[in-house]
Amino acid sequence: MYQFSKIVNSLRTSEIRDLMGLATRADIISFAGGMPNDDLFPIKEINEIYNNLAGQVKKTAFQYGPTPGYPPLLESVKEYMRNKGLPVDDNKILITTGSLQAINILAKVFIDPGDVAIMENPSFIGGISAFKSYLADIRSVPMDQDGIIIEKLEELLNDKKINPKLVYVTPFFHNPAGIMYSTERRQQLINTLKGRNIPLIEDDAYGELYFDENDKTQLTPIKAVAPSDLTVCYTSSFSKILGPGMRLGWMLVPPQIYEKCELCKQSMDACSPNFTQVLANEFLVQGKIYPYIAELRKIYKERKDIMINVLNEYMPKHEDIKWVEPRGGFYIWISLPEYVDATDVLKKTIEGGAVFVVGKTFDPDAKKNNFIRLSFSNMPIEDIEKGVKIIANSLKPFIK
Ligand SMILES: Cc1ncc(COP(=O)(O)O)c(C=O)c1O
Repeated sequence: MYQFSKIVNSLRTSEIRDLMGLATRADIISFAGGMPNDDLFPIKEINEIYNNLAGQVKKTAFQYGPTPGYPPLLESVKEYMRNKGLPVDDNKILITTGSLQAINILAKVFIDPGDVAIMENPSFIGGISAFKSYLADIRSVPMDQDGIIIEKLEELLNDKKINPKLVYVTPFFHNPAGIMYSTERRQQLINTLKGRNIPLIEDDAYGELYFDENDKTQLTPIKAVAPSDLTVCYTSSFSKILGPGMRLGWMLVPPQIYEKCELCKQSMDACSPNFTQVLANEFLVQGKIYPYIAELRKIYKERKDIMINVLNEYMPKHEDIKWVEPRGGFYIWISLPEYVDATDVLKKTIEGGAVFVVGKTFDPDAKKNNFIRLSFSNMPIEDIEKGVKIIANSLKPFIK
């Protein structure tokens, strides 16, 4: 018998992973992955960038780099963040190996075993796992279509017994809920947290992928408008834009927190890939990023429109089968009547030739399962209708 650590023994095995293992047929239509579209990666631009690099920079790309990040990239990300209105001069940027590493580092910095971490329900599975892996006691707060429900959050914050260490939220194009926080809800969240000495982790992995220019004013990060008595640790990523294979994200945090995070990163991987940092930096400094993202927005919006249309057409009509039309990002979150177990629907859907992710994957308590997450980002466009029909037909027998 091996004597595994408490941490590893606390991680749950997933029946979902086993089910997903069945969904490997080459012709299966997958709405499951939260990944960008394969055909949109900037392969041509990155080829050109690499070929035109000076020999010395190519050597740097292959070498270890400084823990905080490749210095030119730190500068270019700083300007990129400044353009979003973020307070880059009073905070520090740490380049991380994907933004999941940024969340992991922040969890490590703040959480001792048994400490309470508050997060939304549903929540990004990677975030749930990151906090669990430091043995956090996760308390979750339900959401509606405008964001986290403030009254429920206040109940937890005011509970003297639990002493929360941090709050983690994804305000823009939530994974899996697909929503963006309303300006009012964002402000209420700020008002609720300020002065409490509880840091907010703001995960902004999708904020650039909005579908409507008119929404831009609502997309100002909390970090950009937070008062001085609210500490916000902001995380973001190139994954949903340039590609997750780059494994590049970052955090923007106050200097005192940064120092601890840099220490943690040193022992995790010493530095993020210098190779992709060099390429991403050139992509930014050569001004390629903005036209490229503008193109992505158009294409993901087109896919979202198709998915919404076919859902309206094929899903069973029922007052408890609903979704909010996303205004950006990759996901549509469908709620089903409470008596429906999405895992049963998934089994039938896989038999029919499609796959999605069930709700409880995103519930920190791994219970609520009358939801399904559909991603519209990465399947052949003509498969969207075919796949939604399969899901709708698989769902029908379960509806009373
Ligand atoms: C909400 C959210 N945050 C963070 C991440 C982490 O992405 P990465 O580590 O590739 O930057 C993801 C990826 O799915 C996500 O959906």
